[in-house]
Amino acid sequence: MTMRLVVLASGNGSNLQALIDAQRAGELRAEIVAVVCDQPKAYTVQRGLIARVPTLCIPLPPGTDRRTWAELIADLIAAFAPDIVLMAGWMRIMPAAFVERFAPNLLNQHPALLPDDAGDTWTTSAGLTIPAMRGAHAVHDALQLRVPITGCTVHRVTPLVDVGPVLARAEVLVEPDDNEQLLHERIKIEERRLIITVINRLAAEFQTQA
Ligand code: GRF
Repeated sequence: MTMRLVVLASGNGSNLQALIDAQRAGELRAEIVAVVCDQPKAYTVQRGLIARVPTLCIPLPPGTDRRTWAELIADLIAAFAPDIVLMAGWMRIMPAAFVERFAPNLLNQHPALLPDDAGDTWTTSAGLTIPAMRGAHAVHDALQLRVPITGCTVHRVTPLVDVGPVLARAEVLVEPDDNEQLLHERIKIEERRLIITVINRLAAEFQTQA
């Protein structure tokens, strides 16, 4: 049985595209069964549609109760019977009820190195201890804090923001003349590679359990 993957994304969707390309090349051991986006103008929507993946765009209208909106999204996701739900650049913090509905099979990609727990630091492979940069400005924070190494993490989602058991990390060196865009692009190169590795590893486990 092929592992079913729903991808949630809010922005450009280059990670989604990497998964789509890998699937098309026969290099993804999972099937992307749906894409969900919360931003009507996001390129993610086009990527999903061009790839002929069922693509849903569910914006959060101003003044709408976030829990009701999240419940609607959860019901729609559940209708695709996913084995894994991946937040690939999903920029909304979801209510605990949403997380609990899909955990432990709800994953998140984060553009910084995170510890395995809620700790405040991470020690890199070179033995350097750096702050755990959580939240939406992790790449900016890496530059502000002048850390020489940052990277990316794929982790299981818990109700705490950017906290949860880590599945994989990759390190990225910060260059002296980096700016946020350059650094984020290099991190994303690693993220796109890492997410395929993680999904394939989970798919292998899924197949042995099936
Ligand atoms: C990635 O860096 C991801 O870690 C972060 O948002 C970015 C999404 O990039 N949460 P893209 O939309 O897949 O290009």
